[in-house]
Amino acid sequence: MSEHVVVERRGAVQIIRMNRPDKKNAITRAMYKTMADALVAADADDNIRVSVFLGTPGAFSAGNDMQDFLVVATGGEHGGEVGEFLVALASAKKPVLSGVDGLAIGVGTTINLHCDLTFATPASLFRTPFVDLALVPEAGSSLLAPRVMGHQRAFALLAMGEGFTAEMALEAGLIYRVVEAEALEAETLAAAEALAAKPPQALQIARELLKGAPDPVIERIKEEGALFAKQLKSDEAREAFMAFMARKR
Ligand code: COA
Repeated sequence: MSEHVVVERRGAVQIIRMNRPDKKNAITRAMYKTMADALVAADADDNIRVSVFLGTPGAFSAGNDMQDFLVVATGGEHGGEVGEFLVALASAKKPVLSGVDGLAIGVGTTINLHCDLTFATPASLFRTPFVDLALVPEAGSSLLAPRVMGHQRAFALLAMGEGFTAEMALEAGLIYRVVEAEALEAETLAAAEALAAKPPQALQIARELLKGAPDPVIERIKEEGALFAKQLKSDEAREAFMAFMARKR
């Protein structure tokens, strides 16, 4: 269990809140593990019908923890937590929603490609600087994003590292609605509660029909993961992480 992820139940809704505001909710290995366990637990528990990802004011997530990247880039253990989380996310059987305010960087953006409904505030910024960090798209985003928004916008987001405002994300189909910050959590949770009140089997079947089988997505996650791991150990990636760590000195 990570102290930086708060998992709580509100009726039949499970809230998974990234709660490491001093680091803009950058996600550590322990946080991935807690989030993976929560998603798996939701599928196994008849009392949970919907999961909701939330962050903290101003930060949904600044993406993978840079220090964790640097550890791998300098020869350390990768660990299986990221992969475990991504596979749990891609294979979740029950609806997954998200409420985004502010920064949604790297995996903070790509999580939303797996969500059924994402609500975001006007101040949200979706950005994946994978290539700038000498990395490659992950979380199945190389498959899902072109499907959602077409090649050119997916390329701008995932390869060029362009930041998408909430308005652009809405237009691209990455998110469902833009809501004011004060209303974000209430609106996201209201949608989750409305879904939780529906006949669960029919909802699951409808969702499965809309999303299709998770296997090709999981296969792509693994394919991306192998390339990502290789790039993580490259000289250019190591330099990028070290530059981030040293930027304030
Ligand atoms: N991993 C680890 N720590 C991170 C982090 C990350 N991904 N993102 C931010 N932080 C930390 C910062 O190091 C800083 O910690 P400190 O106060 O101990 O120095 C703290 O969070 C606040 O970040 P800061 O950079 O001061 O805030 P900002 O508002 O100026 O900028 C970001 C926010 C997110 C734009 C900037 O921190 C950033 O670019 N982070 C890296 C994002 C990234 O590339 N993620 C990986 C994607 S694959």
